[in-house]
Amino acid sequence: MVPQWIIERKRDGGAVPEADLRAFVAAYAAGELPDYQMAAFAMAVFFQGMAFEETVVLTDAMMRSGDVLDWSDLERPTVDKHSTGGIGDKISIPLAPLVAAAGAAVPMISGRGLGITGGTLDKLESIPGYDTQLSNAAFRRVLETVGCSIIGQTARLAPADKKLYALRDVTGTVPSIPLISASIMSKKLAEGADALALDVKCGAGAFMKRREDAQTLAETLVAIGRGMGRRVSALLTAMDQPLGRTVGNALEIAESIAVLKGQGPADVVELVVALGGEMLVLAGLCAERGEGMRVIRQKLDSGEGLETFARMVAAHGGDAGLVENPGRMKAAGACLDVTADRAGHVAGVDADGIGRVVLLLGGGRRRSADAIDHAVGVDALVKAGERVEAGQPLMRLHARSLDEAQGVLAAARAAVAIADAAPAPAPLILGYLQG
Ligand code: URA
Repeated sequence: MVPQWIIERKRDGGAVPEADLRAFVAAYAAGELPDYQMAAFAMAVFFQGMAFEETVVLTDAMMRSGDVLDWSDLERPTVDKHSTGGIGDKISIPLAPLVAAAGAAVPMISGRGLGITGGTLDKLESIPGYDTQLSNAAFRRVLETVGCSIIGQTARLAPADKKLYALRDVTGTVPSIPLISASIMSKKLAEGADALALDVKCGAGAFMKRREDAQTLAETLVAIGRGMGRRVSALLTAMDQPLGRTVGNALEIAESIAVLKGQGPADVVELVVALGGEMLVLAGLCAERGEGMRVIRQKLDSGEGLETFARMVAAHGGDAGLVENPGRMKAAGACLDVTADRAGHVAGVDADGIGRVVLLLGGGRRRSADAIDHAVGVDALVKAGERVEAGQPLMRLHARSLDEAQGVLAAARAAVAIADAAPAPAPLILGYLQG
């Protein structure tokens, strides 16, 4: 295998032979292929794409670069969910405990923020003491005792993806359907769940801006999963405005707890219930989506989801007391309201713009090795369609200092469009794709 020949072949639009692609990925995982060659390859894939068969080989090679977990001895059916990433997307945090409370086991391996989109792992690390790096044995123990566990990708799970994910984040090679598909499915297949519900985001704050691209990504993901013997389905969901009213790690944990207490924003609750219902059907615990959604609502209303969340946090060594008092998480140094300069209706909240504001405040990474500040972000965010008066807060900035808050004030205000008339209501769930 001569790496530069493989890069050249892809650069010129050719298909890479299976043996070469496998050797290329294996060499990268083993540290024998430098980042600059993988970055060049990723850029070639970004421009030239990959045939479906090549994407399957890339996925399989990345999955086999580490351990492949097996849960066949667990008493409960295993099911997971994965989102392609969005702004304010904290869905996994209330969802995993709710689905576990309904009888499934949810072995969830999550990622860090990528580009301007947040990562579940970064959010969970806002919880004092929460250990995201469990051994395989400890992961199993939490699953057996609590029913759900959310951890980070260990060095042994799809290590080729772990390295490539970080490299793509800083080389402009994230929004590529074959690379996203191989990244998501290699991790999810290695994680070993029997079934997987996918939340494929579409819109200004998503990697896939256009509906056709999101549909193609969803079809690719479902086809890869099905080809590898798993039950997989996908929801296509809108990501034009942030999900919920908070963006930023600790703020999103607080909002997730509010969801589990029945006080969450309507859009987050809608998506949690829809994805949870889908997962219960995939896990064989409910016959159809409507029934699954009813069960999830009941676990929400009964408080069993909240109780399962607290047990998961405690099992990970985290401070479960924050369920009663989210104020126990670190707070930002300064808060500043962003106010409306005119009266009207919120025509839209630019998810991409809010994502950039939070990144600038220190809540996301410019380079993969950057540390993030878990406390910064925005909350009390208005939603499209709401009426605002001049001078009314559109959101509150949580920053390290007042100076830093003032530095992003104009960008934050520009992210909220205000018009005379209310926009037509836009659906959150755009479609379903059955595996
Ligand atoms: N989520 C992933 O796991 N990988 C990607 O490439 C994008 C979103």
